[in-house]
Amino acid sequence: MLWKAQDVLGGLTHKKLPIIFVITPTYARFVQKAELTRIANTFRQVPAIHWIVVEDSINKTKLVSNFLKTCGMEYTHLCVKTSAEVTMSKGALQRNLGLSWLRNKFLPGEAPSAVVYFADDDNTYSLELFEEMRYTKKVSVWPVAFVGGQLYESVKVNAEGKFDGWDVKYAVERPFAIDMAGFAINLNLILENSKAIFHIDAESGFLEASLLIDLVSLKDLEPKADNCTKILVWHTKTTIQKIYSKLDELHLEV
Ligand code: UGA
Ligand code: MN
Repeated sequence: MLWKAQDVLGGLTHKKLPIIFVITPTYARFVQKAELTRIANTFRQVPAIHWIVVEDSINKTKLVSNFLKTCGMEYTHLCVKTSAEVTMSKGALQRNLGLSWLRNKFLPGEAPSAVVYFADDDNTYSLELFEEMRYTKKVSVWPVAFVGGQLYESVKVNAEGKFDGWDVKYAVERPFAIDMAGFAINLNLILENSKAIFHIDAESGFLEASLLIDLVSLKDLEPKADNCTKILVWHTKTTIQKIYSKLDELHLEV
């Protein structure tokens, strides 16, 4: 069913804010519920947000279904399993399914004012980040901490506040040398360019570029976060203590 701007999202549009569609791929492992809990506690505080959670599984799991029912957010729950042959590009198929969902829901030109952000389930997001991205015209960009072997990767910005190159050390030849957490895209741009997707065969570090190259040119990138001088998102990785429990001894859902 196609959605029109006026009937979308149970009233989100009444707030007259551009909607933020957050696409999160997620897969089953011990820390999954902890990660989802942590990021939902952030996202829930953001106005006019719709969370598209895409499980890397054949069927929707009970754990994620139950979690979403009580998470206090507007959400869409999808799933698609990454086949065993796909060894690189974690989350690519899931993000593409999120893009298809948006393209099936909205016609270009009739969609609400909105922005799309790919938020992995293990990163750490400030609330400020969402207000920075909300008014993205095409593609907005900002620094991401703890990626590419650096404390942060960023964007060089010139005196006019325009994109002036990548401030990175890892794979400097990347046409878009930016982590998934470092950009947001206007929904209309995604609808108008209906073929743009993440390429599951993209080489390591080139997944982001595989989508962006079909959407925007470098000169049109919109630097945010005070001309890319502020860190508002951290590419964190959760570690836990060594677990000695046997799965069949467990009585509680973790
Ligand atoms: C880095 C980037 O930050 C990711 O956005 C990019 O997808 C990934 O590299 C890549 O190109 O492979 P990294 O921290 O290494 O991320 O990846 P994960 O956080 O392990 O996975 C990214 C997302 O995909 C997470 O939301 C995770 O839950 C999901 N994922 C991971 C799956 O859905 N299935 C998997 O098998 C693994
Ligand atoms: Mn990660």
